[in-house]
Amino acid sequence: MDKVRDQRLAALGGSMRDFRYLPGSNLLERVEAFFEWQELRRDTGLWPLGRSTETGPRSKCLARTDEGALFEGINFASQDYLSLSAHDAVRDTAIATINDFGVHSAGSPALVGNTSLSLALEKKIAEFLQMEHVTLFPTGWAAGFGVVKGLVRPSDHIVMDALSHACLQEGAQAATRNIHYFRHNSIEGAREKLKNIRAKDSENGILVVTESLFSMDSDTPDIQALQELAHEYGAILMVDVAHDLGCLGPDGRGHIGAQGMLGKVDVVMGSFSKTFASNGGFVACNQRSVKEYLRYYSSPCTFSNALSPSQAAIVLKAFEIVDSEEGSRLRASLMTNIRLLRELLHGTGFETYGDPSPIVCVKMGSEGLARLVSRRLPDIGVLANLVEFPAVPKGQARFRMQVMANHSSRDIIDAVHRLSVATAEATRQHDALLDGSADFDSIDALVRAPGERGAPTVASIRPAKTAALAGELQARTTRRIANG
Ligand SMILES: Cc1ncc(COP(=O)(O)O)c(C=O)c1O
Repeated sequence: MDKVRDQRLAALGGSMRDFRYLPGSNLLERVEAFFEWQELRRDTGLWPLGRSTETGPRSKCLARTDEGALFEGINFASQDYLSLSAHDAVRDTAIATINDFGVHSAGSPALVGNTSLSLALEKKIAEFLQMEHVTLFPTGWAAGFGVVKGLVRPSDHIVMDALSHACLQEGAQAATRNIHYFRHNSIEGAREKLKNIRAKDSENGILVVTESLFSMDSDTPDIQALQELAHEYGAILMVDVAHDLGCLGPDGRGHIGAQGMLGKVDVVMGSFSKTFASNGGFVACNQRSVKEYLRYYSSPCTFSNALSPSQAAIVLKAFEIVDSEEGSRLRASLMTNIRLLRELLHGTGFETYGDPSPIVCVKMGSEGLARLVSRRLPDIGVLANLVEFPAVPKGQARFRMQVMANHSSRDIIDAVHRLSVATAEATRQHDALLDGSADFDSIDALVRAPGERGAPTVASIRPAKTAALAGELQARTTRRIANG
């Protein structure tokens, strides 16, 4: 093949960060720079975002790429950890509620947006978390942003885990300039920040912010130690439980439950969108005054319409299921699936991040290679979200696979096999693009011609071998769960 230098190679580089701060005085014209880069990635098939499903977020679904191409795949890209979004009882509840209440809340919780259903939901969450009070928000993002911005004033301080979710970081930026990031999950890092702040300022408030399960790394801080540390320095701890509440830990109480911290964390904030089958979020606390204050001083609660009646009813029903025998069974299948997926990935030569949780992040490394792998996935029938800088550090691109209780072991076996094949093929394509022996018009010819050049970094394995390994792992996992 002729050596070709493809200008479109630029689509393998660059990041969203390049376009966050744009030069130029025309606010509308200057965003063209982002669009050009996005179009270059689209043109080369390297834009993996903005996809939609035609069938809802099922474990197998029909989806459409951003360019409109239809494909069918095993879905590890949706967040529906206990598979409640298509659960019969949840759906029936939604339909009955629409019949009884109509479809809209038609007001903010500060006015008349709440219904008997949202009040019942507040009570249910408070009981579930062994806390006194709960305030609902229209989304998890709004709850995270709203609790930080609602409680913190410009002279206060925020001591925040460096990997905290965007809603918490943006809430912090909107609230104060005194933001002190500490090393991810480092109690000592947090201590150092608190000590420095209190050495100079004993007058103002400090909010310490962390998550119980980090969504890109699948790891967890020592919540009890952070709570004690916060109190030692006259600070308040806020924990975002978006990813583990309902789906992990004893009786679904997440890491707060597992660490014996139920009812003891100063402020708990969560989202319904991962396990509870709906948009929406909440803030739980132990003081009525805090609940009332947030309702009138946290803008996304005060000045935004409340959850719709059907959303409140869906989440209430989801909490009932989470709290039942069925919930325990769903959590057990979820954990079986998580362990199977992680062990199969490891057995196939992939590395994953963190601890077993519904978030299984698969290490890719180079953004260019990861984009080429992602480009292959629709063709071979897998949906998995590519995460790259700035959501994670440069050179640490990864696929975030989100597991559901009703993924079958066949789904998991097939997905791992397909990801493995896609990675081997993309590695060959990446090498050829970089050494100039192929361009974007010719790389697709490389995908079904294995062997002749550059060995793939991840071994291409036969499905039969994966299936045998899966059978063995699943039997082991089932025994482990049966033995408690
Ligand atoms: C840790 C964390 N907090 C908050 C949110 C926001 O939740 P939602 O998407 O339900 O608005 C998310 C979800 O994206 C999250 O991962």
